[in-house]
Amino acid sequence: MATILDGKKLSLTIQDELAIKVSERLQKGKKKPHLAAILVGEDGASKTYVAAKVKACERVGYQSTLIKLPEITTEKELMLEIEKLNNNNSIDGFIVQLPLPSHIDEQKIIQLIDPKKDVDGFHPQNIGRMVLNLPTFLPATPNGILEFLKRYKIDTIGKECVIIGRSHIVGSPMSILMARNYYPGNSTVTLTHSRTQNLKEICLKADIIIVALGKPEFLTADMVKDGVVIIDVGITRVNDNSKKNGYRLVGDVKFDEVSKKASYITPVPGGVGPMTIASLLTNTLNATKLKKM
Ligand code: GUN
Repeated sequence: MATILDGKKLSLTIQDELAIKVSERLQKGKKKPHLAAILVGEDGASKTYVAAKVKACERVGYQSTLIKLPEITTEKELMLEIEKLNNNNSIDGFIVQLPLPSHIDEQKIIQLIDPKKDVDGFHPQNIGRMVLNLPTFLPATPNGILEFLKRYKIDTIGKECVIIGRSHIVGSPMSILMARNYYPGNSTVTLTHSRTQNLKEICLKADIIIVALGKPEFLTADMVKDGVVIIDVGITRVNDNSKKNGYRLVGDVKFDEVSKKASYITPVPGGVGPMTIASLLTNTLNATKLKKM
């Protein structure tokens, strides 16, 4: 039976560490970190994620500002909001929750964010710095996964790491980070996607599998070898009338059967999700330090 990678607990541990750093800053007369989040539209999952980020800010003693904009917000209006945050000296870092409504060009928006305030690490300048191994803001979900591997002391050096899904937010940066000459990293990485022909064969050779696909229970026990490390990034709302809110959260891994073969596995919920928040808070403190205030 696998060891469960407890993201909820580890995220709180990291948050406690950050809270101590914040109180040390305040004692020295330095400013509180201040994170802003822009949420456009009414997507239920996005609302939940942003609310969790704001709540975590309170927990660690950061200031937070939530900017809620209606679905009909134009690209131009959103661009103006971003310029305001770029120029607002009180805001250390900010995020634009994705996905954006389809009439808004996501890349255009991301490229407008001041790279020094881009605590999601999505700006091309920060992605470039990540690739070159320069100091930067690492994207929150991949960084949360690295933190899991580090704190649970999971061996990655020379291991076969298979990543399923090539999104800009998770799969693609994860492939770069796991291949770096660094711990956690130094793995032999295979980045798979919807056009991959022999996914099962590839997965059966993997020591570490990171699934970020958004397809509930996609990875089954027949696709993995004994002792595999499983990181499940998927979190899909599946209708469930027995639940008060009418849905339950399901990962990309068939947990009950895969956990019997795995050495380590993340649960959903309570795995990668909370770690993403811990990373965002860490990036925000680092953004605050950049300003030397
Ligand atoms: N949507 C899903 N994950 C993320 C994330 O890490 N940051 C932002 N801004 N939007 C997301």
